[in-house]
Amino acid sequence: TEPTSAEIAALLTEFPDYPKPGVVFRDLAGLYAEPGMLSRLATRVADRFAGEFDRILAIESRGFVLGAALATLTGLPLTLARKPGKLPGAVHQAEYQLEYGSDRIEVQEGAVCPGERVLCVDDVLATGGTLQAAGRLVELSDAKVAGLATIVALTGLGGRERLAGHPVLALCEVP
Ligand code: PRP
Ligand code: HPA
Repeated sequence: TEPTSAEIAALLTEFPDYPKPGVVFRDLAGLYAEPGMLSRLATRVADRFAGEFDRILAIESRGFVLGAALATLTGLPLTLARKPGKLPGAVHQAEYQLEYGSDRIEVQEGAVCPGERVLCVDDVLATGGTLQAAGRLVELSDAKVAGLATIVALTGLGGRERLAGHPVLALCEVP
């Protein structure tokens, strides 16, 4: 059976003042440690976007977990969006602001085919900067964003508002 939002929320752990004062960090370790949970999470994402995507774009590093599970489940191609300087050859780049800091993600030119419908996945949606940048990487590849999916969305940080224009799926919303 697919995991409910309440079941997911119950497996999250809160760490106040990590990684800096004022931030309450939601740790997904307990979720991944739950037997069978990862495949159930991936099934929920796959079912929501069934028939709507041709490729999965997983965001370094914690997005790789759900991305790999989703690729295994669906048999669809998986592409990794990586932090700066990690990918060989020519890359598309997108910069973004984080809840704590700023960064950039990259995808290899030619890795995503023109016209493909791409589902971007990550573990957590906070301010939305990372997934917004992932969407830009898809568009720089002349492909289309099928959707943006995460396991957890932190409400109150404006993430969903920032991502308006693309279908957003979060399996669990927490304050
Ligand atoms: C975290 C998380 C998301 C992003 C969410 O990644 O895994 O990718 O922040 O924040 P946002 O919605 O405000 O952009 P982080 O950059 O800490 O890297 P990591 O996955 O390598 O730990
Ligand atoms: N938990 C996990 N990842 C995150 C968070 C959080 O609270 N904020 C930004 N990325």
